[in-house]
Amino acid sequence: MNQPVLKTLDRILSKAGLGSRTEARSWIGSGRVSVNGRVIQTPDHWVNPLRDKVLLDGKPLERVERRYILLYKPKGYLTTYRDPEGRKTVYDLLPKVNEFVGTVGRLDLDTSGLLLLTNDNDLAEYITNPEHHVSKMYMVKASTVLTTEQLDQLRNGVTLDDGPTRPAQVTPLRNTPKYSFIEITISEGRNRQVRRMLEAVGSKVLKLVRVRLGPLSLTGLRIGEWRDLTPAEIAMLRPSAKAKRKS
Ligand code: URA
Repeated sequence: MNQPVLKTLDRILSKAGLGSRTEARSWIGSGRVSVNGRVIQTPDHWVNPLRDKVLLDGKPLERVERRYILLYKPKGYLTTYRDPEGRKTVYDLLPKVNEFVGTVGRLDLDTSGLLLLTNDNDLAEYITNPEHHVSKMYMVKASTVLTTEQLDQLRNGVTLDDGPTRPAQVTPLRNTPKYSFIEITISEGRNRQVRRMLEAVGSKVLKLVRVRLGPLSLTGLRIGEWRDLTPAEIAMLRPSAKAKRKS
């Protein structure tokens, strides 16, 4: 017999895109959440999402508005919700966004560029799952002039400590006497992947900017600015749209 997929109450609330797990725990503690008509104040209370009726302030969780935020992240901002050391995070750039939106993947502290944030967890999981090959394009300033062999190595895939990378699209943009500027498109999103790929071919990343994520680009946004995605952009990101583009 199939076991019901039980989840803890705090997880149910954060998965619905209402807030972080910490926030959810505090709402539960203060008696704002009920399950099947009974106020529950224990965050670890088990809930069957298929059967149990969870309300926050008397409202069903599905009523939460979906938000899809495209942010041009500057360098020097962490991609986390709160930093124990009090450093700036990308949420400091979104003071007017009332819904809790989670980041879709991460950008390093020193990376700038396109960051998507949403409370649509299904779409976020779809985009970050490497099996779905959602492309990410980066502009790279390398610390050396890259040779044709090095560019080909990046194209064919290099071996990192967590395994070989998939083939990548690499376009040289220009060289100065000391540096190369390239565009690289990858379909995985491993930790510090582009930096590690450049190191694997004997160079280093001096500057890294994510310029595209799937069909999305930074066009029209200045650094530090954000906007909501348009309905057409949201539709293009959805799995069914990808299947249609391929056929
Ligand atoms: N690759 C990296 O090395 N860093 C990022 O922030 C994104 C991709």
